Formats: sequence, C-alpha cells, structure tokens
Amino acid sequence: MALTPTREDKFSFGLWTVGYNGADPFGGPTRAHLDTVHAVEKLAELGAYGLTFHDDDLFAFGSTDAQRQHEIDRLKQVLADTGLIIPMVTTNLFSAPVFKDGGFTSNDRGVRRFALRKVLRNIDLAAELGAKTFVMWGGREGAEYDSAKDIRQALERYREAVNLLGDYVTDKGYDIKFAIEPKPNEPRGDILLPTLGHALAFITTLERPELVGVNPEVGHEQMAGLNFAAGIAQALYQGKLFHIDLNGQRGIKYDQDLVFGHGDLHNAFALVDLLENGGPGGGPTYDGPRHFDYKPSRTEDEKGVWDSAAANMQTYLLLKERAAAFRADPEVQEALEASRVNELAVTTLGEGETYDELLADTASYEEFDTDAYFNGKGFGFVRLQQLATEHLLGARG
Ligand code: GCO
Ligand code: MN
Ligand code: MN
Repeated sequence: MALTPTREDKFSFGLWTVGYNGADPFGGPTRAHLDTVHAVEKLAELGAYGLTFHDDDLFAFGSTDAQRQHEIDRLKQVLADTGLIIPMVTTNLFSAPVFKDGGFTSNDRGVRRFALRKVLRNIDLAAELGAKTFVMWGGREGAEYDSAKDIRQALERYREAVNLLGDYVTDKGYDIKFAIEPKPNEPRGDILLPTLGHALAFITTLERPELVGVNPEVGHEQMAGLNFAAGIAQALYQGKLFHIDLNGQRGIKYDQDLVFGHGDLHNAFALVDLLENGGPGGGPTYDGPRHFDYKPSRTEDEKGVWDSAAANMQTYLLLKERAAAFRADPEVQEALEASRVNELAVTTLGEGETYDELLADTASYEEFDTDAYFNGKGFGFVRLQQLATEHLLGARG
C-alpha cells in the first residue's frame, strides 16, 4: 500500500540524519558527503515539509564568517526554490574536542562561556530562518565518574544557561521556544536530564518555564526501558510537547536511531494513535512537526538513504491509517466500553462532593465488598490489545 506524504503531514528531517555518512566508533564512513542543496531537493521531492540542522551540519565548526554565510545563502536559495521550511534549529555542543566535558555544564568556565556564545549566534540564525523551535540536546552534558561532576552545580549552570537564553529571545522579540531533548547515556556515561521526566521537573525550576518544553526521542526513552507513548502522553498532559524525534530502537542498548517503526512497532502504533486521535473528540493532540531523527544504516548506499527517509514517512502514514481504522471499528468501541477505558474520565468524587460526603458514603467503604466486587470478572484488556494488534497487522478493516 503506497501512501503519499504531503506538506500537510508536516514531516521534517535533520540534515544530520540523511547526511549521516555511516561512521561509527568501529569504522569510518561508508558514504560520501551529502550536499545540503541536494538533500533539500530530495526531501522536498519525497514529500517532506521541513529541514532541521545543527549549526555545524550546515557549516563546519571553525568556518570563517564568509564560509558560514556562503552555506546559509545556499540553504536560503534552495528553500526558496523548493518551498521547504526550517521548523527547528539546534546547536552542536558535542562534536568539537573543546566540548569533551560538555558545553553549558563543562567544569571549565571558559568552555561554558564559549558554548553560550555559540548558541546565541545560532539563535540569531534560527530567528532569521523563521524556526519556531530551538532544540537543546546535551549529549556531552554529563560524566563517566561520580567523583568528576557536581551534579547539583551542573544543574545550576544548565539552569543559568537556559535562563539566559530565555532572556535573550524575549529581549530580541524572537518567536522561538526551546525544547530539551533527554537521553540517558551516549556519548557520556550518564547524561544530565536523562529522561523526559527529569527534563519536565527541571523546566519547573526555570525563570521562564513557559518558554521551555521537551523534544523526546523514541529511542532515547526506550534506551532507559521506558514506554515512549506513555511518556509523550504525560508531556502532552503538561502542555510541554514542543517537538518530537521519531525513530526506532530495539531494547536497552546503544542508540540505534533506526527508521520509525523498525523497533517497537506496537508502541509506535500507540504513539501515532495518541498524536493523531488522542485529543478530546478524537482529534490530533499535537500539531507540530513529525520530525525524524534516524540514521540510515552504514550498510546502505545513497539509494538506501532515500529509501529509508521515505520509509519513515510511509510507516507513519500507515500507522495513522491503521489507528483510524482501529478507532472506527465498532468491535473496538465495544471492547473499550467493556474494558471501562472511558470510565477513567469520570471524576472519582461527584461534582461538588466533599471528603465529608465521601466519608459518609457507606456504600463506598463499609458496605463495599472487595471480595465479591468483580465477581470473578476481568477487564478484558488482552482482547483489546489483540484487536489493536489485528488492526496493526492489517487483518481487520
Ligand atoms: C541522538 C540525538 C541527536 C539529537 C540532535 C539534536 O541520536 O543522540 O538524537 O541526534 O537529536 O543532535 O541536537
Ligand atoms: Mn538518538
Ligand atoms: Mn534526537
């Protein structure tokens, strides 16, 4: 079944994703450098609407002002030619050797000041290109050794940095919000703000919490053994899903960055159902970019790069189609009813009911027969999950 991605689907890709040359810690590149202009043209042709990048993806670290401007001009030209937009920009504070102990939280103050300047310059570029989201992935913000990093001071410095960036966009009048991307480890042994939950808690300590949300990545939460769709539901619940990185991961191991759906397919189904149908009345819960942060495997040639880029979008659209069929199936609706999934939306106390009234309600406690209550009857969750599985497999409607 071929579903054609359109700009309305809001699919975006990092320049570093399709541009990944296949190098890993055990071997050098297996593919040639991919030119930005060519990448944008191909993504536009495949139906994407957006490109994202780190400063260093577009112009090499240490570029002169002229080299930097040359690459920016080439990008602007191909955006104008193709109609692609830049929904998000991010900063590389991890590749250059100077960031070996981090950027915002390096033990070395000079590095921290340099990192802030690099980010401020990149925020100006993000604003110039119309990006609305600025991602912060602190891959080097962390440590290998407990004795080497004062975590509380590191969080203080992280906070100082994000507060300063919040002041900067506010004073400049930029329409930009920040999204923190959690990851438990890799490249550092332990990374600060390792999960979505840590990041959400950190955001509440900021001076301008309204400017900061999260950019969770499928594989990163799964590297920590967590349920991605459930985490996304909490981020949505707290109004903090500012961006999302879609990809695939198979279990608790190194960061695989596989194609979306090439990992835990059940959870990918639940995620797409949540994003597309989870809102009140069955509408979308999230209207931002569907951003793919994956790495075409080093076994692939350039054709494999574009096939894998298309595969991300194709899988998303297939899951969207399957999730709609799941929601529309009368048997599913009946099973949801039988499992009392919707009853969770009913408040536990009646409207205006007080704890005194609850205490006076003998039916809820004194006469509540816990042994007889279910009378041996179960919730039927397994049947519901099997119906989801059958829809996922295309075996129903
Ligand atoms: C990873 C991360 C990175 C970040 C990106 C944004 O796979 O570890 O996804 O790719 O998302 O660098 O800064
Ligand atoms: Mn990743
Ligand atoms: Mn990512």
